[in-house]
Amino acid sequence: MATTAIHTEQQISFTNRIHHGDCIEIMKQMPANSVDFILTDPPYLVNYRDRTGRTIHNDVDESWLKPAMAQAYRVLKQDRVAVMFYGWTKIDRFFDAWISAGFQPVGHIVFRKSYSSKSRFLRYQHEQAFLLAKGRPPLPKQPLGDVMDMPYSGNKLHPTQKPVQALAQLIRSFTLQGETVLDPFAGSGSTCAAALLTNRKYIGAEMDDIYFQLAAERMQRIQQRVAARRLS
Ligand SMILES: C[S@@+](CC[C@H](N)C(=O)[O-])C[C@H]1O[C@@H](n2cnc3c(N)ncnc32)[C@H](O)[C@@H]1O
Repeated sequence: MATTAIHTEQQISFTNRIHHGDCIEIMKQMPANSVDFILTDPPYLVNYRDRTGRTIHNDVDESWLKPAMAQAYRVLKQDRVAVMFYGWTKIDRFFDAWISAGFQPVGHIVFRKSYSSKSRFLRYQHEQAFLLAKGRPPLPKQPLGDVMDMPYSGNKLHPTQKPVQALAQLIRSFTLQGETVLDPFAGSGSTCAAALLTNRKYIGAEMDDIYFQLAAERMQRIQQRVAARRLS
């Protein structure tokens, strides 16, 4: 009983906030088996730089990958799922980190873009993510298709900003209202925004000072919109 009370109190202090710092350290402070769903878009390990020169922390060095996935597995509740984007050129590293952490791949999602992010041997027109299970999660009543449209987000707040609509449908499929969604690599806070807009709780972590600030301001704006909607 006492343990449950501490667990709940600890959890509340993490919830509905984007935390500024290294997600490995932040997740270490979270109770085990405490979040209902993880939806995250970690660095793809491709040393990305957009046309305006914006870059992404930890996009070269993979030393964070296994420790972060081990913590993600620890904080996810038993019999729940995670959706994790990844860079296809480094699929071996991501797969190794997920399996070493204990995740079981149970699906793979292709997000079809209406534009190409790059053109070389092909016009590169999709993003991808694995659906990963901890234990034996129940099946959704109406499973989503594993090819989804991904509209252009505009990348105004972050160079690899994901559109809220695409994330929201995953949150609706894998959680109930009031449950908690974690994004350890929050960037501009798109997953957290999608969670709030679908009446879920959220926990985010972001280490970059600028993206953290933009994400915190974005969440404040959405919070005000949601509160105004409830009053009207
Ligand atoms: C691919 S971006 C996520 C973009 C996000 N999906 C969005 O829509 O804005 C990955 C983010 O993870 C952050 N990051 C990288 N390593 C991190 C770590 N160890 N802890 C917290 N954030 C980290 C980067 O600064 C970057 O903003």
